Formats: sequence, structure tokens, C-alpha cells
Amino acid sequence: MFFFSRKKQDKQVQFDSNGAIPEHIAIIMDGNGRWAQAKLLPRIAGHKEGMQTVKKIALHAKKLGVKVLSLYAFSTENWKRPNDEVSFLMKLPIDFFSTFIPELQENNIRVTTTGFIDALPEHTQKAVKDAVLQTQHNDGMILNFALNYGSRAEIVEAIKTIAVEFSENPQNITEEIVSDHLWSSHLGQYAEPDLLIRTSGEQRISNFMLWQIAYSECYFTDVFWPDFTQAALEEAIAVYQKRNRRYGGL
Ligand code: FPP
Repeated sequence: MFFFSRKKQDKQVQFDSNGAIPEHIAIIMDGNGRWAQAKLLPRIAGHKEGMQTVKKIALHAKKLGVKVLSLYAFSTENWKRPNDEVSFLMKLPIDFFSTFIPELQENNIRVTTTGFIDALPEHTQKAVKDAVLQTQHNDGMILNFALNYGSRAEIVEAIKTIAVEFSENPQNITEEIVSDHLWSSHLGQYAEPDLLIRTSGEQRISNFMLWQIAYSECYFTDVFWPDFTQAALEEAIAVYQKRNRRYGGL
């Protein structure tokens, strides 16, 4: 049994493995660069270590009974980074899936993606699409990678399709229709994260799942992503378990 100290309302929380486990957890994995810099390592060393954290956290989330884990791995804005960092990030999925597919299979984890996948370099696309294909029949947990993802772009794409489909009857457009046209529609009943985590001390959303997080509980931790452990995930869930979700009601 152990206790965590957080901000006032989150103080003294204890993870309860029999308590409510968020069905969909979304994570903004931030702080790889600062983790590396603090160790006088190149930034890419932080991304490499961050990839190991993805493996640990995916397996632990599955073990805890999470249904969907969405990870923000590369944003549409990340192309602005130096070429060598972008090119390293584009190679990570190859490294990741070539070493992790057997464990994904053993753990019945299905890989899916969200984002402009077809605009990724060929080698990155191949690694990602192969992983999606190989794990497509797994139904234990969905590991959903947001790659070349931007929420505003996702919404614009949905609007373009909806505008054509509903040109004759725009009054029939509902929230459900919008949700059904977002890239997250493949997540069905779990499309909206229950818990959004951002690591590294930053407290912003950075264009991640803006529509889907309307009623998500947000949790910010100072821990850099490469240092985010299984216990840190349980701490986030413990805080979630103490929250009172009202969805605008009383
Ligand atoms: C943000 O940290 C992190 C990223 C932009 C990349 C995240 C990618 C991984 C964790 C690896 C993903 C693995 C796969 C399999 C795709 P930052 O670089 O912005 O950190 P900083 O804010 O400290 O500079």
C-alpha cells in the first residue's frame, strides 16, 4: 500500500486495482528531449528510451484492463524539428515493431493508427501498416498510435466529407455524425478518452484529440516520458479514481 502527494484535490490517493479503470487512456508523451539533455545525451537518446517506455506502459495498461491506449507519437507540427531528429523518429516504428510484435501478439494487443499515415516515409508506413495487419484480429486492447496527427486537421477532414454527404440536408448533422467521421471512429464505444495524461510538466493539449477529450479527466505529471513507470500509470489512474465525473450535470 502506498500514497502519493499531488495537488490539493489529488492528495493521498491510492490505486485500487478493483476500482474504476479508465477504458480509454490517451497520453501526450512529452519530455524525451529534456530527459536526454539532463543526462548530457543527444535528444534522440530520449526518443529511444521513450520507445522502451511505450512497451512497458502498453503491457501494463493491458494488464490493468484498459481497452484503448492512444499515444501521441508524432504531430503534424513535429515536421518543424531538425531533419536528423525527424528522420530518427520516422525510423522508431521500424525498431519498435520489429522487436515488439511477438509480445503484442502474446498479449492479444491490436495496433491501430490515427493521422496522415500515407504521408509518412515509405519505410515508416510499411512498419506501421504491417503491425496493423498482423495484429488486426487481436481483441485484448487497442494500442492506437497518433502518427502525423493533428486534431484540427482531423476535424477539417471530417468537415470536408460531411459537407459533401450532407449538402442537401445539413440540418441532419449531429454530434454523432461528426464523431463517426473522425479518425477515431474505429474505436467505437471507446473513442473518447476517459483519462488524458501529459508528462513532463507541460499543461496543454497541443492539438491532441480536441473533439474526443471534451469530458476527459486530465492528469499532468512532471515526470519525463522516459521515466514514466508502471507505478506512475497507476498513480494517474488512482487520481482518476478519485475524480467525480459529472458531464455538466450535478
Ligand atoms: C515529445 O518529447 C515526444 C515526441 C515528439 C516523440 C514521442 C515518441 C516516442 C515516445 C517514441 C514513440 C514510439 C513509437 C513506436 C512510434 P519532446 O521531444 O518534445 O521532449 P522535450 O519537450 O523535452 O523536448
